[in-house]
Amino acid sequence: MALLLGCKLLSLFLLPLFLVSPSLSDPLYQVCGSTGNYTAKSTYESNLLALLPSLASNGSNQGFYKDTTGRVPDQVYALILCRGDTNTSACRNCLDLARQDALQLCPYNKGATIWYDNCLLRYSNSNFLNSTDNSNVIYMWNTQNVTDDLDKFNKLAGELVNRTSQYAAFNSSRRFGTGEANFTATDPNIYGLAQCTRDLSGDQCYKCLTGITSAMSRFLGKRGGRVLGDRCNFRYELYTFYEGKSLLQLPSSSSSPPPSNGTNTTGNGNTTPAVPTMGGDGNKNNIGMILAIVIPLVIAFLLMSTICICFWRRRRLAKKIPNDTNPEEITSVESILFDLSTLRTATANFSEENKLGQGGFGSVYKGTLHNGREIAVKKAFQQAQGKE
Ligand SMILES: *[C@@H]1O[C@H](CO)[C@@H](O)[C@H](O)[C@H]1NC(C)=O
Ligand SMILES: *[C@@H]1O[C@H](CO)[C@@H](O)[C@H](O)[C@H]1NC(C)=O
Ligand SMILES: *[C@@H]1O[C@H](CO)[C@@H](O)[C@H](O)[C@H]1NC(C)=O
Ligand SMILES: *[C@@H]1O[C@H](CO)[C@@H](O)[C@H](O)[C@H]1NC(C)=O
Ligand SMILES: *[C@@H]1O[C@H](CO)[C@@H](O)[C@H](O)[C@H]1NC(C)=O
Ligand SMILES: *[C@@H]1O[C@H](CO)[C@@H](O)[C@H](O)[C@H]1NC(C)=O
Ligand SMILES: *[C@@H]1O[C@H](CO)[C@@H](O)[C@H](O)[C@H]1NC(C)=O
Ligand SMILES: *[C@@H]1O[C@H](CO)[C@@H](O)[C@H](O)[C@H]1NC(C)=O
Ligand SMILES: *[C@@H]1O[C@H](CO)[C@@H](O)[C@H](O)[C@H]1NC(C)=O
Ligand SMILES: *[C@@H]1O[C@H](CO)[C@@H](O)[C@H](O)[C@H]1NC(C)=O
Repeated sequence: MALLLGCKLLSLFLLPLFLVSPSLSDPLYQVCGSTGNYTAKSTYESNLLALLPSLASNGSNQGFYKDTTGRVPDQVYALILCRGDTNTSACRNCLDLARQDALQLCPYNKGATIWYDNCLLRYSNSNFLNSTDNSNVIYMWNTQNVTDDLDKFNKLAGELVNRTSQYAAFNSSRRFGTGEANFTATDPNIYGLAQCTRDLSGDQCYKCLTGITSAMSRFLGKRGGRVLGDRCNFRYELYTFYEGKSLLQLPSSSSSPPPSNGTNTTGNGNTTPAVPTMGGDGNKNNIGMILAIVIPLVIAFLLMSTICICFWRRRRLAKKIPNDTNPEEITSVESILFDLSTLRTATANFSEENKLGQGGFGSVYKGTLHNGREIAVKKAFQQAQGKE
């Protein structure tokens, strides 16, 4: 069957879709290591089984911890990070779960990275502890679109994520920031969160975060989005998803500058458009002016590049995919994640009828999202991809 062939091809060179469960206690995602397996009752196993519980007992108070045990070739390296707003017990609960899930989802694998809403656990036999690389970057977004004031939303969400990242990098020794911005009077606020592992310097953290916040261009118009990494992560939503008060408030941007109307663009305009700046900053006017010039440019650039990327991707995929597979079906399959419930609905609860085939890592189902778009869904129980 041509369809099956298409599917096989797909699973060969594109990362499949994976499942997100809405429950807090389920992993968001996991990436098993690629540095080999250990055997039952080996020294590596006993090192690993000794190290994992100690991470939770030593690290849940601080919310960040890294440690190693054993000697090469059986040395195990591990790192944990809890979300900055979790308390000791919530952190510990999450890590206890992570340890069990990781061993179950990546059995006998020397390495694993597993993400939850509240925590991250990573272990490996290769020493990644001093690395500042944000490997294993996973993109997730809310499939619901923003309907009103799209441009304003994209701009505000981008700005919020940027400011929250700056806060995490430079205003927090814990490298953690949360922020909110008023969208419109009727709509709820936008909430953002950014975090790095605490061993990064401010500059390293900021660099890590700018590396992933560039993904905001993938999320244009989406009601929420997040990027998971093993050194830094961020998220934004139109609802609160963290505990406590936001550390940062973006002033309302309802008084955005009026569209220019044949105005003189050169030289020193004597009107300073009202642009959001952070409260308490000096140089308000300068910052405002710079933002007023830079933001529209950036937005235009982002829009243009999104269009270009989409166009390019369609062409590229059209080249690689057999004709009977609509390239639209598989836009940015790298690591898209949908709600489990969305996927359940789309695939009629993974019914046999919708099953397209069975690949090396799991079964592939055809699905139709409620907007009519067709997707290929891979249901993977165990995943053996990813880099260490
Ligand atoms: C590790 O184990 C998995 C199954 O548990 C297997 O698919 C994989 O090939 C093994 N890798 C190595 C390097 O032996
Ligand atoms: C970590 O916790 C274990 C007990 O779980 C303890 O034996 C060990 O000394 C602790 N390590 C540090 C560095 O505190
Ligand atoms: C810790 O946080 C959890 C969830 O936010 C909350 O239910 C619990 O009461 C908190 N525990 C303490 C001791 O504050
Ligand atoms: C990692 O950092 C620690 C202390 O910061 C240092 O002692 C160690 O040599 C470093 N290891 C590597 C492999 O760079
Ligand atoms: C969201 O917008 C995208 C493109 O702008 C569109 O393809 C998709 O169907 C929309 N999704 C929903 C759920 O409305
Ligand atoms: C956010 O920061 C990135 C990188 O620094 C920049 O390219 C982008 O224009 C900024 N976005 C907004 C909306 O300020
Ligand atoms: C963050 O730190 C910078 C300087 O490091 C300071 O100017 C700014 O006011 C701080 N912002 C907040 C919200 O504390
Ligand atoms: C933003 O929203 C909050 C509550 O949603 C409100 O208290 C505050 O006044 C608003 N700020 C601005 C500048 O509109
Ligand atoms: C442009 O400005 C002129 C006068 O300055 C005004 O009559 C016109 O309505 C403006 N057009 C727009 C689109 O704002
Ligand atoms: C442009 O600038 C000139 C002189 O600086 C001024 O007379 C004119 O009204 C300006 N035009 C607009 C549209 O603002």
